[in-house]
Amino acid sequence: MKEKIASYLAEIAAFTAADATAAEEFRIRFLGRKGLLQDLFLDLKAAPADEKRELGKLMNDLKNAAEEKTAILKTQFEQTQESGSTIDLSLPAFPVQLGARHPLSIVRRQIIEIFARIGYQVAEGAEIEDDFHNFSALNFPEDHPARDMQDTFFVQNNPDILLRTHTSTVQVRVMESAKPPIRILAPGRVYRNEAISARANCFFHQVEGLYIDEGVSFADLKQTLLLFAREMFSADTQIRLRPSYFPFTEPSAEMDISCNICSGKGCNVCKYTGWVEILGCGMVDPAVLKNCDIDPEKYSGFAFGMGIERITMLKYKVNDLRIFFDNDVRFLRQFTGA
Ligand code: PHE
Repeated sequence: MKEKIASYLAEIAAFTAADATAAEEFRIRFLGRKGLLQDLFLDLKAAPADEKRELGKLMNDLKNAAEEKTAILKTQFEQTQESGSTIDLSLPAFPVQLGARHPLSIVRRQIIEIFARIGYQVAEGAEIEDDFHNFSALNFPEDHPARDMQDTFFVQNNPDILLRTHTSTVQVRVMESAKPPIRILAPGRVYRNEAISARANCFFHQVEGLYIDEGVSFADLKQTLLLFAREMFSADTQIRLRPSYFPFTEPSAEMDISCNICSGKGCNVCKYTGWVEILGCGMVDPAVLKNCDIDPEKYSGFAFGMGIERITMLKYKVNDLRIFFDNDVRFLRQFTGA
């Protein structure tokens, strides 16, 4: 019996399998229910008592050797099976399609970043608002045409609930709840009932700004907007303020920048004037401050508002507003940036 065990041990040590079937045959030959080891255990039972101890130990060694070899063969064939048949490492990888930010998002972030450097914080509000925050608090007279059905989308024929027509609503809400100094930027989507064309849409995006403190003057407004124009477009950009009217600011102005497309020489974007309008602004009307419980004797401030689409069109020389909302990747893919 000893010789048998020794020869099996040698056989196990020398065994190599060509494939998974050969490995399985090996397992069955030694460890199967009717395998060689099973036979040997029967022999062991019948062996003389004084040899049992030594033989038992040898049998154990044999069993361990057979089991170890089986385990090794198993992992060997599991691995080759995987790399051999299910994974082809030479296949080209699936291409990873990287997305890009929408041009309006790029410009919105840029505007926010410029004003953040001089202390403006972002404030946000709801797109569905009431008449008070969109109009009344901002000094719009009862019969102002902007309240008209032609300009404003009302919700379910309720003249008190509407889609905000500007983000000045956020300014009102901030003034109601915070005390000066206030320095905020209100980016967001706004809605107006306008015919869709290359220059107008029924919704667009705005950023409005508000600064209220003691002793804020029109000079502060002008310098702030000059800084913005030069950071946004180029260091040699000029600005021009033209008197205008908004119910919530007094005095009010519209701001032009020197045309960045023809550098002021005249082109069809600036209609050969050398200037393009980019925003509205003015000193916050004392009546608005009063509506929001801020003492106009003590505090003054300025506000400004711009359309992100307009800034983006000028910056990237896009000539049709509608293309921003088509989501055509051939257009969107061209923009990279912050
Ligand atoms: N709210 C104005 C608009 O939507 C823009 C504006 C904001 C003008 C602040 C002046 C001051 O047209």
